[in-house]
Amino acid sequence: MKIFIDSADLEQIRILNEIGLVDGVTTNPSIIAKSGKKFTEVIKEIASIVKGPVSAEVIAVDAENMVKEGMYLKDIAPNIAVKVPLTMEGLKACRVLSSQGIMVNVTLCFSANQALLAAKSGATFISPFVGRLDDIGQEGMSLIADIVDIYSNYDFKTEVLVASVRNTTHIYQAALIGAHAVTAPPSIVEQLAKHPLTDRGLADFLADWKKTGQTIIG
Ligand code: E4P
Repeated sequence: MKIFIDSADLEQIRILNEIGLVDGVTTNPSIIAKSGKKFTEVIKEIASIVKGPVSAEVIAVDAENMVKEGMYLKDIAPNIAVKVPLTMEGLKACRVLSSQGIMVNVTLCFSANQALLAAKSGATFISPFVGRLDDIGQEGMSLIADIVDIYSNYDFKTEVLVASVRNTTHIYQAALIGAHAVTAPPSIVEQLAKHPLTDRGLADFLADWKKTGQTIIG
């Protein structure tokens, strides 16, 4: 399963990328606002750090202007994925951009029917928001299972990019279901490596090793 970083924090992206854990990056207007940086500059910088797709979201709400913005954004770097909202206008823009070979991430997906339309419109990625569904008392991960099943039924090439990830359990469940990718904040990706028994076991090993008085080198 691919791991994308849902952030515009360059330092965190660099750290995780050096470990080889970053398959791509996603941003949205809220993330860009939080970064306090100029949109196109921060996207350019992220795209130079990471080899995989970097999602940059359009602001227009009509297809014509979404396409204009998308064409502008895709010129920032070869690994830009243009992010469009899951509206009829967004699907129309998705069709135009994807038919020109541009990667498109269709975002704000909250139903299997929406995901079906995104795949039919040629989306490279569909971003279903699990956390926001959980927030309103719906089971976010059951949507992921449904979309993975539907895409597999028809051999759609669109990748399921699980978004709005709030905890490591979301990532574990997405992997079990067989989603292609998740996008998560850096702190959650780091938590994947953690287990209290690992910390305790390491402390015990080091304490026992100290008793031997040995060193490995020299
Ligand atoms: C990803 O593409 C989305 O922008 C992001 O995961 C949304 O997450 P949130 O619901 O925590 O804002």
